[in-house]
Formats: sequence, C-alpha cells, structure tokens
Amino acid sequence: MNVAQIIEAKREGKELDADSIGQLLAGYADGSVPDYQMSAFAMAVFFQSMTKDEIVSLTRAMINSGDTMKWESSKPAVDKHSTGGVGDKISIVLAPMLACCDVEVPMISGRGLGSTGGTLDKLESIQGYRTDLSSDEFRSIVNWCGCSIASASEKLAPADRKLYALRDVTGTVPSIPLIVGSILSKKIAAGVDALVLDVKWGSGAFMKTIDKAQQLAEMLTVVGNELGTKTIAEISDMNQPLGKMIGNSVEIDESVEVLQGKGPDDVRELTLLLGSRLLVAANVEQDVEAASQRLQTTIDDGSALKKLAEMVEAHGGDLNQPRERADSHPVTSMESGTISRINTDRLGLAVIEMGGGRKKIGDPIDHACGIEFLVRIGDKINKGDVVANVFCDAKLAAVATNLVGASIGI
Ligand code: URA
Repeated sequence: MNVAQIIEAKREGKELDADSIGQLLAGYADGSVPDYQMSAFAMAVFFQSMTKDEIVSLTRAMINSGDTMKWESSKPAVDKHSTGGVGDKISIVLAPMLACCDVEVPMISGRGLGSTGGTLDKLESIQGYRTDLSSDEFRSIVNWCGCSIASASEKLAPADRKLYALRDVTGTVPSIPLIVGSILSKKIAAGVDALVLDVKWGSGAFMKTIDKAQQLAEMLTVVGNELGTKTIAEISDMNQPLGKMIGNSVEIDESVEVLQGKGPDDVRELTLLLGSRLLVAANVEQDVEAASQRLQTTIDDGSALKKLAEMVEAHGGDLNQPRERADSHPVTSMESGTISRINTDRLGLAVIEMGGGRKKIGDPIDHACGIEFLVRIGDKINKGDVVANVFCDAKLAAVATNLVGASIGI
C-alpha cells in the first residue's frame, strides 16, 4: 500500500497490517512521509481507533524508528510516566527518590502536550538544565547519580518525537492508540525493566471519564508486557490540579518543597503510591507498605533532595539558584458558595495563554509564568476570597485571571 492508501484504509476503519504501519512510521521518521500525511493519518486513528495488534505494531514501529538502549548495572532500570495532567510534577519528585532505593532511573520525558504541562519544559526553567542529551551523556549521568530526566535523544524513538509535536498542534492528542504508542515506544526503547504508568482521568486529563482511563490503562499494560517490559498502571484523579502550582518554574519550587517534607499532601501521596508499586514490580521490595516507607525515608533524611540537586548539576543547572517568577495577580471569587467542579484543562490553557506552553510547534516558553491555585473541590468560599494567584506579565493579567476565575464552578 502507498501512504495515501494506508490513510484511506484507516479512514474507512480497516485493520492495518504490521508492514503498512512499519512502512508509514519509518517513512515519517526519515522525512519521506510529510507532516500533512501524518496529520491525516493521526486524525483517522483518532476517529477509527486501532485494534490491540495494530497498537503493538505501531509501538514496535516507533521503537524501530531509532536505537534502543540496554542497562548493564546489577540494579533494575525503572521508570514512571504519566498520561498527562495539570500541575503534575510527580516525575521530578519521584526520580531522585527512586534513585536512592537501589534502582536506576533513566527517565525519558516529554514537553507540554495539549493543555497539560511537560516535565522537560519544567526542568528547563532551572537555568542551565540541559534536556537534550546524547545517549552517551544520558547513560553516564544515570551511571553516576542513578537518575536522569531528559528528552529522548535524536536517535531514540525519533518517530515519537516528531509525532508528539505534530499531535500537540493538530487536535490528535486524546487517542488511546496514539498515547500508547507514544509513551511505550520511548520507554521501551530506553530499555527499562519495569514501568509504572499514571493514567489520569477527569477534567484536566485526556481521558475525561474513568471508563476511558481504564481502557487506556488496560491497553498500556497489555501492549507494554507483550513487548517485554514489566508494565503496571495506576488510575488517578485529574478533576483538579495536582498540588497547588501549575506552570514551569513554580512546579520545580513545589517539587523541592515536597522533597523538603513540606508541600501538598496529594503530590506526596501519589508519588509514594506510584513509586512503591514500581519498587515491588522491579522486585526490589516485597510489598507496597515496605516500599512506601523506604521512599518516605528518602524525604525524611534529605537524601532525595540531595539526589535531585546532583542530577540537576549533572545536567548543567543549579537547583539552589532562585528561579524566575513573574509578578503575582490575585484571582478573587465573584460568588459565595461551595466549589463543585474545576475545569482543570482551562487552567492548563490559561498557562499556555500566559506564554508558559506552546500554541504551535517550536513556540518559546516563558518559564516564569504560572498559577498558584488555592482551592479544592468541596471548599466553601466567600465572594471576594482569593482563590488563586496568577504569575504573568501585567498586560496578560486580565485574560489570565478571567480564565482562571472561569475554571471554577460554584
Ligand atoms: N505522554 C506521552 O509521552 N505521550 C502521550 O501521547 C501522552 C502523554
């Protein structure tokens, strides 16, 4: 089949064979299939979905578009990935904690996607932090300090690198086959032994219902295990932001607070849950209670914070340098009552409007802007109460504060 026929077959809901999928992805990675054909294909997949066998072929083709890594240490290589959320800084907190627990953490992360933030964009708010490592640099940082959070090198799952950026700006993010292929290709190519996936559902997630999140979790674990990586998944709530901070530098600040034993409970609890399940999956601990206790100790004794600072230094940054934060503008409630719902993805979009995310491929990021969101579902508030602070340039403050205010249902 030529590329147009492959797109047409998917548009008509036909099942594609492994060769057609392999040919398409290889062509996209080497540049012979242009963005416009890949966008059409992604949209066809969005509407028609794929069978499990097609998703396995898609993921395998994305892995085969580049190199794969192997880890020779006696310690298991583990990783965690989220399907995307608002205020989701778990990777930044968890990677150094795990690295203090007899595992290696070669963590390949992504940039902002749709209304969700990206771990790489957040880390780049630390002045000097390089995310674009070669495979050798990535390997040597993991060998030296036990963890590294970086982008997939040019050579690791290059088809995902291109398709991820394309999906971000073509309305094709919330598709189970595309999410599975994207997440698993880079993780499996990075050679991890065990992987935990944080599958989010709710107003700030790509999967708006818990049923869809369950389908995604099921597909991620089935495909991951079929391709030889021990893969487990946890479903978590994204009907309100995770923690208080949403943005780039502000989320690094909040991650540091959690590692100092402070910070919001929901961030610490989810970090411990995902990390403890991962340590059990990697056979480092027998049960989740013991694993959770071991992870908590890395916060209590300061070793995880020290590890984060080491990792940042290895990437060229300095965690102790203050990070930029734009001027603060309060958002006040227009009504009294109880908070009944939060349109969490609007909060993510507000950060994009302030310049903290991208509207098109390659847009620069303003790391200094963000939101401090002060309320939770169920809170009682009075008219005039400050519900959030928005950090942005004064000329964007009116738009940003309106968007944040409108995200809260009373
Ligand atoms: N994270 C990824 O890496 N890819 C997706 O498609 C969604 C979340």
